[in-house]
Amino acid sequence: MNRAAVLTGIGSRLPSRAVSNDELAASLDTSDEWIRSRTGVGRRYFAAPGTATSDLAVGAGARALASAGDPAVDAVLVATTTPDRPCPATAPLVAARLGLSGTPAYDVSAVCTGFVYGLATAAGLICAGIAGRVLVIGAETFSSILDPRDRTTSVIFGDGAGAVVLRAGDPAEPGALGPFDLGSEGEGGDLITVLAGGSRQRLSGVEPGPGDHYFTMAGKKVFRLAVERMSHSARTVLDRAGWKTGDVDRLVGHQANARITRHLAEELGIPPERCVSNIAEVGNTAAASIPLALDQAHAAGGIGPGDRVLLTAFGGGLTWGSTVLTWPVIARPGDGPHETDPHERAGVRR
Ligand code: UT7
Repeated sequence: MNRAAVLTGIGSRLPSRAVSNDELAASLDTSDEWIRSRTGVGRRYFAAPGTATSDLAVGAGARALASAGDPAVDAVLVATTTPDRPCPATAPLVAARLGLSGTPAYDVSAVCTGFVYGLATAAGLICAGIAGRVLVIGAETFSSILDPRDRTTSVIFGDGAGAVVLRAGDPAEPGALGPFDLGSEGEGGDLITVLAGGSRQRLSGVEPGPGDHYFTMAGKKVFRLAVERMSHSARTVLDRAGWKTGDVDRLVGHQANARITRHLAEELGIPPERCVSNIAEVGNTAAASIPLALDQAHAAGGIGPGDRVLLTAFGGGLTWGSTVLTWPVIARPGDGPHETDPHERAGVRR
């Protein structure tokens, strides 16, 4: 293959409202101590009612396009578990609001693995010559599907968006996405799910069971599988790339739980100081987790040009995926990722 997808822009966006563990503990039987020690989460951000996934996606996408120094792309992909509506996809709305009307745009649905699946899909479009530049966004308003009475999920997840721009380039240049490893195991589909609202358990005509429209997760099983599948996938992709674990300067795993990342790093033999982690500040943002972690690490100097970076994710489906790249020089114009969405500030309903 003499054409590769090369990282050329990055950006992210968080909602304005930070929610502390103590705030959750005021209405749930939990504590700051339990949440920090069992998950590593210190706070998360929740979008205001009326703010949708597309609002966060537009913010992150605009920043990534500015960082890439060129507002034009040939495709827009939005990885999300929480689309604005069941129909249509969120990506065309995002593309239109970014001034990219006319550009092909579609969603990628793979829960927490969505962003890595999105990267693979974008790389496929680029390597096949279908697109020269692709905007890939991971965006979630997970607060919209969390059961406020479920302490096992409410304390982990948060809202946010991260985005990258990929361009056609040379496989040997910095920023070129390496080989991918992707997988799924639908037998585990019930372990991470929203039961109602699709064609299996309809919202019309049939009364859903209490809580069936909320997100649920079999935490313990998922924890074990997350470590197993991500470490196997990471090893597979390292083998394909011809890298040893000692070659990895930065491990950016899906920010599911700080203990999962710790076990993953131990399994792989990667020292903790090489692991990128922002779960204390933003929680688990599902499809947004990896691009948000990358953007924040890039902004803070935690990832720099020449670093060999391993990305690996695991999520509902079940799904998993990994890839590698050598970090390129990327511009980061504008301010930090905490700037709020103007629609959210104004409380605009859309
Ligand atoms: O992003 C997609 C993939 N997601 C993940 O990979 C997440 C995977 N799972 C996890 O992160 C963890 O399993 C959880 C954070 C969900 C749960 O942590 P855990 O250490 O596996 O706890 P557990 O389910 O084994 O529960 C231990 C105890 C239980 O009490 P008993 O039965 O021992 O009396 C739970 O009821 O902790 C209790 N518990 C809590 N206590 C205080 C569960 N959640 C909470 C809570 N606050 N929020």
